[in-house]
Amino acid sequence: MNKATFSEQFYNRLVNDYSHALDYDGISGKRVAMRLAELTKIGLTEHGGSYRLGYSAEEREAKEVVKSWMRQADLTVYQDDAGNVFGRYHGEAATPVILAGSHVDSVPNGGHFDGPLGVIAALEVVEAWRAVGYQPSKTYEVVVFSDEEGARFNAGYTGSQAMVGELELEKQLALSDQDGQSFKKVVEGVGLNPEQLVRAKRDLADIAAYVEVHIEQGKKLENSHMPVGVVTGIAGPYWLDIVFLGEANHAGNTPMTGRKDALLAASQFIAGLPSLPAQFSPTAVATVGKINVSPNGTNIIPGEVRLTVDIRDIDQHARRLLIEAVKDHAKQVAQELSIQVNMEEALNVEPVQVDQALATQAQLASEEILGQAYPLHSGAGHDAMILGNYLPMAMLFTRSEKGISHNPEEWSSLNDCVHSIHVLKRLIEKTM
Ligand code: HGY
Ligand code: MN
Ligand code: MN
Repeated sequence: MNKATFSEQFYNRLVNDYSHALDYDGISGKRVAMRLAELTKIGLTEHGGSYRLGYSAEEREAKEVVKSWMRQADLTVYQDDAGNVFGRYHGEAATPVILAGSHVDSVPNGGHFDGPLGVIAALEVVEAWRAVGYQPSKTYEVVVFSDEEGARFNAGYTGSQAMVGELELEKQLALSDQDGQSFKKVVEGVGLNPEQLVRAKRDLADIAAYVEVHIEQGKKLENSHMPVGVVTGIAGPYWLDIVFLGEANHAGNTPMTGRKDALLAASQFIAGLPSLPAQFSPTAVATVGKINVSPNGTNIIPGEVRLTVDIRDIDQHARRLLIEAVKDHAKQVAQELSIQVNMEEALNVEPVQVDQALATQAQLASEEILGQAYPLHSGAGHDAMILGNYLPMAMLFTRSEKGISHNPEEWSSLNDCVHSIHVLKRLIEKTM
């Protein structure tokens, strides 16, 4: 797919139904559309999606584009040892700063709003302040966190975890992707020193609050005819790596009885998964999105299957019970098929509530801009969830068309994007 053509079509689709009445207080819908369209060129897939994995050359290229926009806005630009990019807009007081942003990495063949919208929104606040001559009392920083999705190494939130000091270096450096590429090598490949990732730890007393605009990636806002939502809490993802170990054997000469078919075990495990979450909570979910069969030959009984279960809930207790139930289910399936099963926790981020005072400010900002506020919780994980365990955090959601995300069809109207930026700007001005 021709990048320039796609980007132009993407831009035209955004501006076509844009109501320019939303261009007020220095915010420019055209600039937002241009920047969203610009980033689509980096890692564009043949399906019109985005392929910009964490710590890839594409993520680095997108960060460089954002740095150029930051410099054009006279921000002081710097990057930490985890590759997180910051653009500082100096206020009267140097600290504590108000931090806002998101990520620019994507899932394989993802959409073009998941992450970039939050970064461009945070930057648009500065552009608007400069246009109207507003001088914030606190210093404001725009941030691009590295490797939020964790698509390559089954980890995720790497940059934000490094900034809060949660990154376990040993565990991180031991990671390798499904082609055996080590995390270490990949990070070196984009000019970072893997041994120094943890030096990105920042004195969190320097940060008064973190606010993130993100697409909802669900249908609540669309069903409620609301352009923007105020997030009340974020479900915590738990990623469980499971290996079913059977016995590879000849597909033609091995009787059906007595086989140790690892893929049969994995299939029965997956088939039994959907009924588990509802036993513990109406908002709990469990998904297998990634599976690896080996030796993966047509005429070989699979000897080993590796898969990862993504388990989430906003309710901490229900989430814990569901995790145990998923593990018991895997053990039971393996036992019935005389297969061995090994399980390892790959990611565990507890659910987090939005800071009450900040959430109230966010609701007020939404009411002042939109005339109403729509509170909702987030089933998706975000960098805001990592920071929310250490400092006041708030999130604003932008309506997702048909609730689609992690898919090239992901779409939010420019009107909804700009509404979100007005609410973000009002909220940040309330914290100043
Ligand atoms: O996995 C998530 O919820 C987010 O897209 N990283
Ligand atoms: Mn995502
Ligand atoms: Mn995201």
